[in-house]
Formats: sequence, structure tokens, C-alpha cells
Amino acid sequence: MADTIVVTGAAGYIGSHTLIELLKEGKYTVLAIDNYSNSKAETYNRVRQITGKEFETANIDLCNYEALLKSTAHLDKIAGIIHFAAYKSVPESVAKPLLYYHNNLETLTNVLRLCEEKAIRRFIFSSSCSVYGNTSDLPVTETTPVQKAESPYAHTKQIGEDIVNAFALANSGFNAVLLRYFNPVGAHPTGLIGELPQNRPNNLVPIITQTAVGKNQLTVFGNDYSTRDGSCIRDYIHVCDIADAHTRALDYLAEEKNNMPVSLFNLGTGHGVSVLEAIRAFEKVSGASLPYHIGPRRAGDVEAIYADNRLARTELDWTPQYTIDDMMRTAWKWQQTIEKESA
Ligand code: WQD
Repeated sequence: MADTIVVTGAAGYIGSHTLIELLKEGKYTVLAIDNYSNSKAETYNRVRQITGKEFETANIDLCNYEALLKSTAHLDKIAGIIHFAAYKSVPESVAKPLLYYHNNLETLTNVLRLCEEKAIRRFIFSSSCSVYGNTSDLPVTETTPVQKAESPYAHTKQIGEDIVNAFALANSGFNAVLLRYFNPVGAHPTGLIGELPQNRPNNLVPIITQTAVGKNQLTVFGNDYSTRDGSCIRDYIHVCDIADAHTRALDYLAEEKNNMPVSLFNLGTGHGVSVLEAIRAFEKVSGASLPYHIGPRRAGDVEAIYADNRLARTELDWTPQYTIDDMMRTAWKWQQTIEKESA
């Protein structure tokens, strides 16, 4: 029996795409954990449909340590944990800070407690470019100083990284990779899974695709920034490229290539794309013009941020494959799947 990888938040957006890559590789058996607070169990059936592979699932709240321990009691060799489970809405975290601090930190400390109890030595943590805050030092590298978090969500990612570092210091033999995602967008090329906002999305790309089907109205939050076209610049990265980086990070730890107990990588394309450029890319791939209007700037938005991704390219042997056109094309295909299924 192959060793097991535990994936928390496995039914979520990035979790489900990573599940597909793990199952396709076939190196491990997988226990997929999710409480469906921001996802649907149906996503697992799509993963089975895409991969033709089976995997174990557990519907538990990671804030309940006893439930977590019980769900893994039968697993005698857990080769590693990929920890996605967390709330991730920036505006919601501003409105409900205690919900975010409690959930995002309690789930993390419980998963690390499990690592201690079951001598799990490989851990991958879902972090975010939002830990950099408002920096003018571009492109950001992994050594770019972390600024004051712009939201409780971003703060939970900063604290989460510190907790993993402290845990590694106290537990020799424990190795971790922190992956700082830039802006994950797009969907699986099959159009069977993608980002599934449980209520009104806040992120640009799902708002673009919902606007294209008449379910939303896109406002561009400011076109008076000091950028090439006045709109904010971000490093949009396809969710499948993000997923690929996770299996490579597992290999990196399994082959003991890490020279520090905790390694840190930026996951971005290295290219900045403005909001207006993203809209034009969508119009190009969808063949339709997108209605939008220019509104005031959104509080908390940074003018521009994009990654220096050389460390992930060299250390993880990772190369992003998808272009902004691919991101928009797959996001659009997924939105059309949603429309077909809800008709
Ligand atoms: C992108 C750009 C908006 C909506 C967030 C999180 C970050 C990470 C990625 C998890 C900005 C503009 C947006 C709209 C717009 N998530 N926009 N109209 O804020 O860069 O990052 O997602 O790790 O932690 O903060 O993403 O998609 O909300 O915004 O003009 O209706 O699109 O101003 O410039 P953001 P976003």
C-alpha cells in the first residue's frame, strides 16, 4: 500500500485542482478532507471523472482536533500534508476578523498537532502574495520585506507562516514548503471544475465571467493609478500551474532537496497584467465585448504586485504553462458549464 498524502480543503478551488495532479501522478494514496463550508462534495465526483482514480474523503471541521485524529487513525504512513483549508475572502475578513483569526489559525495548529502526534515530516502550506502588503519593491522576491498586512486574511497568512517556522524549529526532521500564491485564476481545461464562489465573488475573474452571462456587473475599481493604463496590475497565475507546483513541492521534500527546514516560494508568472488588459484578454477569447464601468478605487488595493518566480523555477523545476488568454478561456468555459448545469 502506497503512503498517504492528506489534503485539507481538498474540495476547494486550488485543492481540487491539486487533487487531480496528485491522483494523475499515482505516487500516493490520498485522503481528501473538507467540511464543504466553501466548496461542494460534488467536486470530488468531477475529480473522479477527470482522473478515473479513487480516493478517500473525510467531511470534518479541522477546528475539531479529535475528529481530525479519528479520520486519520487508520493511516499508518502519512507521507505528508498539503494544507489548503482556510477562509480566503479579503473583504469578509475585514468584516469578520475573529472568524478568520479563529478558523485559519485553529485549523493550522490542529494540523500541525497531528504532524507531531503521527510524526508527519512533510508539510506544504497555502500562503499568499498578500503577505507582502503594499510594496513598491517590484517584482517581489521571497526576500522582499513583508509589510503590514492589509487585511485580517493576509495577517492570518503572515502568522501562519510564522507558526510553521516556529513548529519546524521545535521539531527537527519536520520539513515544510510555504507557497505564496499570486492571483490564482482560470479552471481545469475539461471545464468540469473551477472556482465556485458560494455567494457573490469579490475576485476579478469570476466577476468578469458572471458579467459575461449577465449575472453580475463589472466595475473597474479605479483607472487613475500610476500604471501603464491607469488600472491595477496583478500577477494572474493559472490554477493548474499552481496545482503543478504542489506536486513538485512534495517531490522536493521527498527527495530532500531542501537545504532549510522551511522553504518559501513565490507562485506567479513573473508578468504583471492590468485589469483593463485582463478584460481585453477575456474579450479576445470569448469573442464578445464585456460591459463594464469605471468606479472609485477599492480600499486596500495595492497599485501593482507581481512575482519574481526564479526560485520556484530553479528549485522546484517549475515553469508556468498557461497564458492570460488560457486563463480567461478556461474560466469562460467553466462559467458556461455552470450556466448549462443550472439551466
Ligand atoms: C484583482 C484586481 C481589483 C474586482 C486577492 C486576495 C489575495 C489573493 C488573490 C488569495 C484588483 C480589480 C476586482 C472587481 C476590479 N487571494 N477588481 N473589479 O485583491 O488582487 O487579491 O486574490 O490568496 O490574497 O487579496 O484580487 O481579484 O479581488 O482583484 O477592478 O469587481 O482586480 O481592484 O486590482 P486581489 P481581486
